[in-house]
Amino acid sequence: MPQARKIIIDTDPGQDDAVAILLALGSDELDVLGITAVAGNVPLEFTEKNARKICELAGRPDIKVFAGAIRPLVRPLVTAEHVHGKTGLDGPVLPEPTMKLQDQYGVDFIVETLMREEAGSVTLCVLGPLTNVALALIRQPRIAPRIREIVLMGGGFFEGGNITPTAEFNIYVDPHAADVVFRSGVPIVMMPLDVTHKALTTAKRVEAFRKMGSKVGDATAALLDFFERFDEEKYGTDGGPLHDPCVIAYLLRPELFKGRHCNVVIETASELTMGMTVVDWWGVTDRARNALVMRDIDADGFFALLVERLGRL
Ligand code: RIB
Ligand code: CA
Repeated sequence: MPQARKIIIDTDPGQDDAVAILLALGSDELDVLGITAVAGNVPLEFTEKNARKICELAGRPDIKVFAGAIRPLVRPLVTAEHVHGKTGLDGPVLPEPTMKLQDQYGVDFIVETLMREEAGSVTLCVLGPLTNVALALIRQPRIAPRIREIVLMGGGFFEGGNITPTAEFNIYVDPHAADVVFRSGVPIVMMPLDVTHKALTTAKRVEAFRKMGSKVGDATAALLDFFERFDEEKYGTDGGPLHDPCVIAYLLRPELFKGRHCNVVIETASELTMGMTVVDWWGVTDRARNALVMRDIDADGFFALLVERLGRL
């Protein structure tokens, strides 16, 4: 088997983040060098603990979990307890973690790892606001050419926004960080709402996790049952969009996704459209095509991959 792909997962768990982390830990093709938590869905004290809970659920207390930024670069923190519950991981009852949080600051871990590992060998998988990644790029600009790729869940264009009419949550929480990352020149693969809204946790798909008859399967079904209720009501769909696992699935089976290289610029001035990802999908400007923007997914293939890989844990 070729050498496993080295990744750092930057995350604000979050039920969908949790499923993404489980997918990564259930896949031998990936070598998770570390998990850095960021404030987002819920405050950092919860996101870092949730990351450790998920590692232990996966039977991987060896994974290094770090706490990163406690708030966005400029704006006050906006959280989403209305979606994820007070703990950010409502749904299953998961034990308090016993594995320890790493002492090192998550942003320093990102910089140190990128400066140590072979240039171009580490992929950043970003599942929450981009604060940690932006801080790492500002703290040590030399990491930019050393990053193989940034694969992130964030933004939206044809689908509009989910926290304001024009902005998706991860970008909205820290639009200035997103602006730093999208201007960095690092190759970006973007999983916006346009693609994640096509990956719905229908009752049949959630049942497939429950039928696994495992701790991981039961917990995943409980996570999704809780997480989807808000979006089902909002969108009137059977199930809610399963956002963050799209990032990890892309690394494992890129052929599940379709998109195109576009210019993407982040709105950081207008309060009305703050955090909007302005995607030049039709190429009407000559601005640099700084992101591979995904718009379609083989949803059945995506969920089959999830069940197969979570079944390994
Ligand atoms: O808008 C969806 C994104 O915001 C997902 O990453 C979800 O976990 C929340 O962080
Ligand atoms: Ca997230």
